[in-house]
Amino acid sequence: MGRRIGILTSGGDCPGLNAAIRAVGKAVREEGGITLVGFRDGFRGLVFDKSEDLDAMSLSGIISIGGTILGTSRDKPHRMPVGGKELDMCEAAAENYRKHGLEAIVCIGGGGTQKNALKLKKMGLNVVTIPKTIDNDIPCTDTSIGFDTALGVCTDAIDRLHSTAMSHQRIIVVEIMGHRAGWLALAAGMAGGADVILIPEIPYTPERIAEAVKKRKLNGKRFSIVAVAEGAMSLEDAAKIRKLAERKDKSEPGEERGKLAGSLSAFHKAHAENTLRLTNLLENMTGIETRLTILGHLQRGGSPSGADRLLATRLGTACVEAVEKRRFGVMIAVKAGEIAHVPIEDVAGEKKLVPGDHEWIQSARSLGTSFGD
Ligand code: F6P
Repeated sequence: MGRRIGILTSGGDCPGLNAAIRAVGKAVREEGGITLVGFRDGFRGLVFDKSEDLDAMSLSGIISIGGTILGTSRDKPHRMPVGGKELDMCEAAAENYRKHGLEAIVCIGGGGTQKNALKLKKMGLNVVTIPKTIDNDIPCTDTSIGFDTALGVCTDAIDRLHSTAMSHQRIIVVEIMGHRAGWLALAAGMAGGADVILIPEIPYTPERIAEAVKKRKLNGKRFSIVAVAEGAMSLEDAAKIRKLAERKDKSEPGEERGKLAGSLSAFHKAHAENTLRLTNLLENMTGIETRLTILGHLQRGGSPSGADRLLATRLGTACVEAVEKRRFGVMIAVKAGEIAHVPIEDVAGEKKLVPGDHEWIQSARSLGTSFGD
């Protein structure tokens, strides 16, 4: 059968996944005819053996294309939806791994993927992961595939919102993805020159935001841009959530539970409502006409930036090098600009949040940017 390596993409898609698949595929061919087997739609493809050999033609011309040619899903091998139930299908995944005679499986994904990969590692599979997410919340790596492109999209969006906000003398609230981390909103807010930046790591008080906006108006500014991370919350909500998290009884229904719950759709619904409520509140508190723009999945679509293509290519080739050196059970990371191997155990289940004293926050504060605190 010859040497064979598997690959899958899992979790939310982002620009740069194809560049990483291409890099792994080209590098294994250069290594001397190793076949790359692509599994479709994340871990689901490994569990149900939906796979194809990725030949030179299927890897050609994809570096600039967004999304993933392999498809993706958020399905977990240990909680795979099957016939209306969630079943532990790790053994089926391991069986297919062996059936294909794989030497290793490359899992490209975010936080959830690292946890899933660890399950497979514990079953004896040779796993190597590559970090991707526009949220930039994977620990032990400076950055992840997709973040730079999303930053560009959000910055461009904020630029465009500036001109319309100025023409109409409005406040524009722009909601930016990032799940429970504020990296994307912080970076895009700074790059786009937002006047207020709200991130989950710094709970806000609506009155403080209103003050900052009114001060701008008094100083003759015709508009204000408020960049809100989707996971941002008020001090009041943060306290409620903390209490809920401490409670043993998790049966609390409704919105507050939604913010706490693992379910992404509950999280999104609760936070979209939050951002809309904040928008209305700001209009009432300031008397300034206010509009809301939710950037949503636009942030994850389209062609990867040059930086993401470069990152994906470096991580992909370093991943093949790790397989050649039989360095398994690691995430290929970038630390202080250099490629590093991080044990998956150190990453799985952890989140990299923005430290309150991060240099980006200090820099923004020294420009007078308000964090609503
Ligand atoms: O993790 C990437 C991300 O885009 C988050 O920023 C966002 O909260 C989530 O995925 C959206 O997920 P879905 O595409 O499943 O709605």
